[in-house]
Amino acid sequence: MNNSDIIANLLVTGASGTVGHELVKQLLASPPHLANHNIIAGVHSKNGAEKLNNYSGLKIVDFDYSKSDTITNAFRNVNSLFLLTIPNPDSLDNFVDLINLAKNSGISYVVKLSVQETIDSEPKTMLGRLHKQEEKIVEESGIPHTFLCPTGFMQNFVTFYGDTIRTQNVFYAPTGDGKVSFVDSRDIATVAATILLSQSSKRKQYENQSFNLTGPEALSYGQAAEIISNIVGRKISYRDIPESKARDNMEMLGMKKWLVDAIIELHNITKSGKASGITDSVESIIGRKPHRFEEFVIDYISSF
Ligand SMILES: NC(=O)c1ccc[n+]([C@@H]2O[C@H](COP(=O)([O-])OP(=O)(O)OC[C@H]3O[C@@H](n4cnc5c(N)ncnc54)[C@H](OP(=O)(O)O)[C@@H]3O)[C@@H](O)[C@H]2O)c1
Repeated sequence: MNNSDIIANLLVTGASGTVGHELVKQLLASPPHLANHNIIAGVHSKNGAEKLNNYSGLKIVDFDYSKSDTITNAFRNVNSLFLLTIPNPDSLDNFVDLINLAKNSGISYVVKLSVQETIDSEPKTMLGRLHKQEEKIVEESGIPHTFLCPTGFMQNFVTFYGDTIRTQNVFYAPTGDGKVSFVDSRDIATVAATILLSQSSKRKQYENQSFNLTGPEALSYGQAAEIISNIVGRKISYRDIPESKARDNMEMLGMKKWLVDAIIELHNITKSGKASGITDSVESIIGRKPHRFEEFVIDYISSF
């Protein structure tokens, strides 16, 4: 038996979410010569499990960051882990336990989804600091890893702004003319799949590194609105709202104060233009250019 005959078990956490679901689809569709992987989806809720029920060849396991028995069970015989967390100020202890369980289970590679701000040694936002703390815990565990550090997702225009775009032809954010080098979450999934499916000798080039993943162009929200308008064939407007109004909207939705503060910080980074840098990381890993915003809108036209 040579290395390529060995079946590896690959667990995707957050498997029903924006990035995780796409990653599951791409892993299941990976070329036959990479088929020596069992793909396992870690699901948190019944709704999440229902989204994944119809994929043949996919094993589904319960996975809840706050329930260590689900983690112990999900990690059994797993070799590689795609780790997606929703960090909050109280989640660090659970994360320490999770990484200890990963190490004790013999997991030999972790690809962790982080945020762009962790590229800085001292992130300037709350979410950046929380992800950075998680990254340090992974580093200290000694498990070989790669950190994916994307800018804002293009898919936010569906998940966060899609509702008012569909119902009122408008979306609201306090970002002025600030530009973001939006990245397509499908490209993030392709980067993760490429690294997770690489043979260990090839994977060395990504090991213990962080990659700042961006799209190919930086756009303001106003420019994004123009592109959406041209493609959907009706006028979609971007309204720049004051920070206080954005806060009120999020509080009305019942969001916790720390999260409202954290999102306002991210909007301020956007407004200042600091989220507009472009890297070639996506192309250098997956061997093709990342999707442009226009391509994303065409592919998701039914969501607008
Ligand atoms: N959005 C952006 O622009 C952006 C940019 C950079 C980085 N990020 C990072 O990307 C990550 C979010 O990725 P995403 O948008 O793909 O996520 P998402 O669509 O919000 O999905 C979250 C996933 O996590 C699962 N989940 C929720 N609570 C859980 C728990 N207690 N235990 C286990 N799983 C749980 C959810 O399952 P259920 O649906 O079943 O609850 C779902 O599958 C965050 O770490 C964020 O900081 C986001």
